Amino acid sequence: MMFAFISPLQIKDDWPGYSLDLFSYPAHYSGDLDCVIIPHGVIMDRTERLARNIMDDLGDHAIVVLCVLKGGYQFCADLVDRIKDLSHNSNRTIPMTVHFIRLKSYLNDESTEDLHILGGEDLSFLAGKNVLVVEGIVGTGKTMKTLLKHVEAFGPKMIKVAGLLVKRVLHSSACVPDYVGFEIPNRFVVGYALDYNEYFRDLNHICVISNTGKMKYKI
Ligand code: HPA
Ligand code: MG
Repeated sequence: MMFAFISPLQIKDDWPGYSLDLFSYPAHYSGDLDCVIIPHGVIMDRTERLARNIMDDLGDHAIVVLCVLKGGYQFCADLVDRIKDLSHNSNRTIPMTVHFIRLKSYLNDESTEDLHILGGEDLSFLAGKNVLVVEGIVGTGKTMKTLLKHVEAFGPKMIKVAGLLVKRVLHSSACVPDYVGFEIPNRFVVGYALDYNEYFRDLNHICVISNTGKMKYKI
């Protein structure tokens, strides 16, 4: 069967976002954000569709979900929930196990050279398995490329990647996920578990951080 290529949901470079005043958000972040680029409800709706796409492609075969912490935890939890919903309510199912690894490469809003993979030392249980790597955001793709090389070394049968956000950046040929929630402009975004120096994970919407916010939480 042939699948038509569906271009990802694109958020254009000139998209001004929504005013924060139109939505609820924690008062402790007032002044720290420029706009809401993706409201929480839209993230949830898009995630529901990605779950269906994953079910269509991988249904009836067990997968190991590899959640990339910390930025991927919320997307992973919601995506797994939606796949569970489909498994509960249709003839097709995907038996899932879930594992966690932690990557760290960003300081302030800059990607650093030294990538740390924590909890990824022994992934030998991935041998022969279908693996779904779930990541919150793919920026340059360098981090994902390094991670995939690491995972491949343990001999999985197949690796698919689900990324909620992919940034439109130059030289981004390094890695494009198989399942993309949104393609976004090359701006630093926070919320829905994405952080700036550990702040803003406790925000539901995906927002653009303001200069004030960057100064306030700079290390
Ligand atoms: N926000 C948070 N974390 C990130 C980003 C971003 O825009 N890009 C890469 N990691
Ligand atoms: Mg981070």
